[in-house]
Amino acid sequence: MICEEDVIDGWVSPHDLRFLDFINSIPMNNEGGVCEIGVHCGKYFTPLNQLTNEKSLAVDLFLNQECNVSLSGGLRTSNKLPHLSGYRKKWFTDLRFRFNHTLEKYDDKHKGENVELLEADSMTLVPQDLGIRRFKFISVDGGHNVEHVQSDLKLVERCIKPEGVVILDDWFNFRFQSVTEGYYRYKSQGGSLVPFAHVHNKLYLCNYSVHHMYIKYLENLKVKKISSEISGYEVVVVDTYEETNK
Ligand SMILES: C[S@@+](CC[C@H](N)C(=O)[O-])C[C@H]1O[C@@H](n2cnc3c(N)ncnc32)[C@H](O)[C@@H]1O
Repeated sequence: MICEEDVIDGWVSPHDLRFLDFINSIPMNNEGGVCEIGVHCGKYFTPLNQLTNEKSLAVDLFLNQECNVSLSGGLRTSNKLPHLSGYRKKWFTDLRFRFNHTLEKYDDKHKGENVELLEADSMTLVPQDLGIRRFKFISVDGGHNVEHVQSDLKLVERCIKPEGVVILDDWFNFRFQSVTEGYYRYKSQGGSLVPFAHVHNKLYLCNYSVHHMYIKYLENLKVKKISSEISGYEVVVVDTYEETNK
């Protein structure tokens, strides 16, 4: 019988994991930590953390769900579940507890020991809070309103290593159209990251100077794909439609 503790609540597809493996196999991504804004219960963060030997950073509102104004993920606050107590209350209301539980159980490589937790509203952070040019991969999956996405992309611009990858979740997700709008607002205000791949519902971005290298590496990816353009930059779109609808 499957119990609650055997399931990690969250949103990750096999496409995401396969593509993560691919970008991690590119030699220029050998070094660097990983970071995610919006870890929820760690479903994406945990596989991400298997790809580094360095320190990682997990940013989330965690218990401060009153600030989760875009209602993206997160658990309910304890006053909404007054009938629960003890361990069950913790399980259903304490995101920090759930995240640590996932790392202890599923983070085979580090058991979470390399992970720093930063409990904060990402809109209040500056690049120095995360670390300048420290991470090879940063996943942006926190607040989903236009303001959050625009602000988070601006924040991580200076935290990603020169050759690293920023992964924006919910790109063209019809439930969170504000994410796509947030990206375009970021670009219209001079955002320097440029897109190079769109896989499933994630947009992959890098610094302009390494864009051509990612496009070249993607020629080796043996999947059905098309070449497209977003914001004037060549983007490889992996055709996951057939696989998903088989
Ligand atoms: C969609 S969930 C993330 C899903 C997760 N990446 C996964 O792998 O399943 C969004 C998360 O962002 C957090 N969040 C929402 N607004 C935030 C903000 N302003 N600052 C930091 N975290 C935020 C929520 O607490 C929630 O855990």
